[in-house]
Amino acid sequence: MVTLHSATAEASPNIALIKYWGNADNELRIPSNGSISLTLGGLSTVTRVTFDPGLAQDVLLIAGQPAHPPAHDRVRQHLDLIRERAGVVAHARVESSNNFPSGAGIASSASAFAALTLAALAAAGIESDAESQSRLARRGSGSACRSILGGYVEWHAGGTDAASYATQLAAADHWALVDLVAVVSRAPKPIGSTDGHRLADTSPLQAARVADAPRRLALCRQAILKRDFEALAAIVELDSQLMHAVMMTSSPPLLYWLPSTLAILRAAAEWRRSGEGVCATIDAGPNVHCLCAPGQASGMEARLRALPGVEDVLTCPPGGAARLLQTDT
Ligand code: DP6
Repeated sequence: MVTLHSATAEASPNIALIKYWGNADNELRIPSNGSISLTLGGLSTVTRVTFDPGLAQDVLLIAGQPAHPPAHDRVRQHLDLIRERAGVVAHARVESSNNFPSGAGIASSASAFAALTLAALAAAGIESDAESQSRLARRGSGSACRSILGGYVEWHAGGTDAASYATQLAAADHWALVDLVAVVSRAPKPIGSTDGHRLADTSPLQAARVADAPRRLALCRQAILKRDFEALAAIVELDSQLMHAVMMTSSPPLLYWLPSTLAILRAAAEWRRSGEGVCATIDAGPNVHCLCAPGQASGMEARLRALPGVEDVLTCPPGGAARLLQTDT
């Protein structure tokens, strides 16, 4: 009789407050600078991994459909790391689904590789702590190392595989910020993050951005710990603009913004000047994440929805850590 080992895990995506852009080591995904994020509640990826000696190859189903070859290969490589560690030879069936729409400006690779790492480690029978889970999730997708933890999270660049992982800065209930994601396009992005990271060093601005990162990280850390929204808003917007300046000045240049992206940036700046607790940050795409101080989200959501070009607004409070839902052997 064949023994199947399976486990199911859940993880949430995150929004970077201080961005990861560019790697010191692309192969190991060791970043050029540390980063800080907020794990997004209400959104999650649930992934079930079953190691099955009867399978001739790994099977990956996303929302019930066989995955395209690039996604399949990336998952297979990640499973290989875990198989190697556990001495498992069986192939795996991986079934993954998101409760949020793809292409809505929320990177699903972070929650996907965090959930995959947790489920695959458990199915392979490896006991692990958050630090080693984060280190391993990083190998699948850099930002996934932050989605292992809940609340406010810092990824320590580290410089080596052993030293590059994320830890929690503050729990989700430390500060009730809300991320309103203003969706202006659902089209797939022309250049994904993995290719984008490889272009970062072609920008003459990247070295300055990286050199200044410790200062921005310290300001962001301090603003979170003191719950100082004005200070957070200033550093989050500066950091996002620095990353997009690097993107726009890479060879070839990356310009993720649409006219409506800029309209939201200008509106958010105007609202803050008039005393509202809101600031804007953008990952590798045209959609804008508007962070709101506690109690400000419902008013802001209505204002965002009224802007031309805004197709939808998703509301995300701080979320919890990745967790194992089930283990069967
Ligand atoms: C702009 O983690 O998606 O969202 O490691 O190649 O999977 P890979 O890249 P990824 O890059 C995220 C880039 C970002 C900023 C951030 O999340 O820090």
